[in-house]
Amino acid sequence: MPKNISAAERWFRRVVKLALLGAIAGIVVWMWPVEVVRVRTEAVSRGMVGGLSEQAAGRDPLALFGRWFEEAQKAGLYMPEAMAVATSTKEGAPSVRMMLLKGHDARAFEFYTNYGSRKGEELEANPRASLLFHWGVLHRQVRVEGRVERLSDEESDNYFRTRPRGSQIGAWASRQSSAVEDRGQLEASFREHEERFKGTEVPLPPFWGGFRLYPERIEFWQGRLNRLHDRVVFTREGAGWEVTRISP
Ligand SMILES: Cc1cc2nc3c(=O)[nH]c(=O)nc-3n(C[C@H](O)[C@H](O)[C@H](O)COP(=O)(O)O)c2cc1C
Repeated sequence: MPKNISAAERWFRRVVKLALLGAIAGIVVWMWPVEVVRVRTEAVSRGMVGGLSEQAAGRDPLALFGRWFEEAQKAGLYMPEAMAVATSTKEGAPSVRMMLLKGHDARAFEFYTNYGSRKGEELEANPRASLLFHWGVLHRQVRVEGRVERLSDEESDNYFRTRPRGSQIGAWASRQSSAVEDRGQLEASFREHEERFKGTEVPLPPFWGGFRLYPERIEFWQGRLNRLHDRVVFTREGAGWEVTRISP
C-alpha cells in the first residue's frame, strides 16, 4: 500500500474490503441450502430418490414402459425412441446396432428395416432379439428380450406411406449391409429409383418392412444413490407376468 495515503482513505479501503468479504460470505451461506434443495429436487425428479417401488412398477410392464417412455419424451431427451437392438446368428454370435422404436402397445414393440440386412437375416435364422433403451438424464434403462415376427405387408405398407418420399426412395436405393463400390454408386442408385418412380407413389420394397418383438422378459433399471439401484424384472408367466426385484 502506498505510504502517503491519508488516514481517511485507509479507513475507507478497510470498510470496502470488509463489505466485500461480508457479501461473499453472505452469498455462500445463503446459496448453500438453495443448492442442497436444488440437487435434491433434481434427484427426486430423476427418480434417484423416489426410485421404482413394486407398487409404482405395477403388474403390467408394457404399461410401465409406456409411462417411462412418455416421461423420457417430456424430459426433452434427444431421440428417446433410439434403442440398441441385439440379434444373433443361429450359432449364437451376437451383433448390435441402434434403431428407432416406431410403435409400442399392450403386447409388443415395433421397428422397421431392410429384411435383407445383416439383422434381417439374423432375425430370419434366429427370431429372437433384445432391445435396450437408455435415458441417461433420468438415470433409467429398460432391457427387453423376446420373440420376433415380421409384420404383414399391409402393416409395413401403412408405415411406409408415412415416410418422407426421400426415405422411401432411399429404401429402394440401398441394399442395406451389402458392399457398394463407392458413394457414387449409392447416389446413382438413388437417382435411378427417383427416375423410376417419377410421378407415382413409391411402392413398398419387397425386401423392406417391420418386425414386432413380443417381450418375454423386461427389466426396468432406475439409478439410485450409493449404487443401490432399483432393478425390477417382469418375466412372462402364461397370460400374466411374474415380478422380481433383483440386486443392483
Ligand atoms: C439413432 C439411430 C437410429 C437408427 N434407426 C434405424 C432404423 O430404425 N432402422 C434401420 O434399419 N437402421 C437404423 N439405423 C442404422 C442401424 O444402426 C444400422 O446401421 C443398419 O440398420 C444396418 O445394420 P445391420 O447391418 O446390422 O443390419 C439407425 C442408426 C442410428 C444411429
